[in-house]
Amino acid sequence: MTQIENQPLLQPLQKGALDLKNRMVMAPMTRSRANNPENAATDLVAEYYAQRASAGLIISEGTPVSKQAVGYINVPGIYTQAQVEGWKLVTSAVHANGGKIFAQLWHVGRMSHPDFHNGELPVAPSAINPNDKSYTPQGFKDTVTPRALEVPEIKAIVQDFRKAAANAVEAGFDGVEIHASNGYLLHQFFSSSANTRTDAYGGSAENKARILFEILDAVKEVLDLSKVGVRLNPSLHGGFGIELSQADPETFEYIVQKLNDYNLAYLHLTEAGAAARALPFAIKEVAQHFRKIYQGTLITNGGYTRESGNKVIEAGYADAVAFGVPFIANPDLVERFAQNTNLNQPDPNTFYSNTAEKGYTDYPTLAQVTA
Ligand code: PHB
Repeated sequence: MTQIENQPLLQPLQKGALDLKNRMVMAPMTRSRANNPENAATDLVAEYYAQRASAGLIISEGTPVSKQAVGYINVPGIYTQAQVEGWKLVTSAVHANGGKIFAQLWHVGRMSHPDFHNGELPVAPSAINPNDKSYTPQGFKDTVTPRALEVPEIKAIVQDFRKAAANAVEAGFDGVEIHASNGYLLHQFFSSSANTRTDAYGGSAENKARILFEILDAVKEVLDLSKVGVRLNPSLHGGFGIELSQADPETFEYIVQKLNDYNLAYLHLTEAGAAARALPFAIKEVAQHFRKIYQGTLITNGGYTRESGNKVIEAGYADAVAFGVPFIANPDLVERFAQNTNLNQPDPNTFYSNTAEKGYTDYPTLAQVTA
């Protein structure tokens, strides 16, 4: 059992351009508190993130790069000036508390719904319905068959990511994470079950991955890639509309191999779930597998605890661990791990619901509990 005093999770991380005070990353999580006409982050959002500034790095909830990118209600965007002003509240509050925060740049693609687009279809690499649910202003609805993007539209989305990265810089973020994961637009391009294109964006691994590298090349014009992370979920199966196919692991190996040339801040991976573990061709131990391929900083995520998080770093499979739900319920998660004390239990009923402070900024710290 790991000694409390020298837990790997609590050691600083200085690698490449990343300089983190510890190896506990707050994972990106949708919280749906931007319920204002502009969908801008507010003082309440700033308070939430600032409470969690003891994390080595905070990755913001996914923030849509355009109106077309939106697929959930009350999510703060990063494509208007009002939204940039909202995020300034967040970054300055996190920095005042000694934290660091990256913006997660997001396009949901076919996971959106016509209700967000005046009745028009959401866009995707191919016209294939994810057969999932979309959370619209009128509640949960079945997803629809999206419209396949034309090549000039793909180029426009690449530019939306570039502009969003520039906006993130203006808003005071320490960097950005490209959301290429969890069945959203970029993952839809990588996935054989979602991408049947026969042009330069479909077919080979190189073609399916093309949009990601075009985005990195565009973002590089406004932000050094040493401040850019990429998030991948290579073994997603049976969730967010994605079915893993035999060809997919090779596509992710191609992507990760190529990311070695990009000198990123980090690569952020999600571990395999139960459904993928039952598939013979799926990569089962994701960080362990890609650690052999990727030479840069690697963050892993997916159900880690204090114990298993320390172990994965000790084993050398990852440099840092992203924690999601534990950070929702424990603003002082770092302190609680340091002392190896009890954790607050999360209330899933308040994860997304628009209950303002409840289940958002009202989880007590250890100091508040013992006061
Ligand atoms: C969600 O809102 O449920 C959500 C958003 C982004 C993710 C995963 C889940 O990457």
